[in-house]
Amino acid sequence: MTQFEGSHILSVSQLDLDSINTIFNVANKMTPYALREKRTKVLEGAILGNLFFEPSTRTRVSFGCAFNLLGGHVRETTGMASSSLSKGESLYDTARVLSTYSDVIAMRHPDAYSVKEFAEGSRVPVINGGDGPNEHPTQALLDLFTIKKELSHSGMGIDGMHIAMVGDLKYGRTVHSLSRLLCMHKDIKFTLISPSELAMPDYVIADIENAGHKITITEQLEGNLHNADILYLTRIQEERFPSQEEANKYRGKFRLNHNIYTQHCKSNTVIMHPLPRDSRAQANELDNDLNSHPSLAIFRQADNGLLIRMALFALTLGVEDQLEKYECPV
Ligand code: CP
Repeated sequence: MTQFEGSHILSVSQLDLDSINTIFNVANKMTPYALREKRTKVLEGAILGNLFFEPSTRTRVSFGCAFNLLGGHVRETTGMASSSLSKGESLYDTARVLSTYSDVIAMRHPDAYSVKEFAEGSRVPVINGGDGPNEHPTQALLDLFTIKKELSHSGMGIDGMHIAMVGDLKYGRTVHSLSRLLCMHKDIKFTLISPSELAMPDYVIADIENAGHKITITEQLEGNLHNADILYLTRIQEERFPSQEEANKYRGKFRLNHNIYTQHCKSNTVIMHPLPRDSRAQANELDNDLNSHPSLAIFRQADNGLLIRMALFALTLGVEDQLEKYECPV
């Protein structure tokens, strides 16, 4: 039995290097099941409550598919309007009720700390699929898993690496969670590139500084990427701005395309983005002309999300050692 069995996964602050390694080891074991080379029914009869009160493609569908690939069923609720939350029901009451119908719940909600509030009423493990601008712990885990794999191709590890984070670092919850996971490692160099109005929150910067890592804060993309091992781009999170006009002020400020990459980055700088990227002309922070570049890891990140979410279900439900026992023909 691991520390995860029966537990909520709400924040990366619950994790340490040992527990992250446990998740990554189980995620690696999931590869043949995700690739459909093997099949297991280890979660047959179990139900995932997949509650998404904010738009999502990757997180929602990969949570659902991860559960299906382990043999379980998925009951999905999407959008606030289709839930009695829109009639004033509390998160606590909603959790009390829905946790009777499910064995585990994944949830995304537009408000910071809402998933934690929901978990207080839940009788089953709750996994945070993104709570407003606060955290996105499963994305951070899949990002770290991806960084580890990508850097291993150049014989590097996470300790000692240089990451440049670019874009909306204020509202981009993935960079908050990822920074905190990276803080657990040694000698990381952070270059944080954003408009000053969209800078990384002070509490994340304090975590980075208190962990003794080097940090550069700038508003300039060009000239600050040349030593980066990882270039992590983010979208302007327009849904968190007071108005569309306010968001428009920042869209298109930082753009990466083939020409800029070739001029300003090392030849093997890994390009990451949690997606969705905003491909509308006025934004276009990551151009399609890099789509076939071998350093573009954005779709490998999304692939790894399936493995990480399969691992988290197996661990929270305590079946990580029973995958083979419940194997069946492909
Ligand atoms: N990365 C991510 O959270 O994507 P979705 O919003 O599509 O789930």
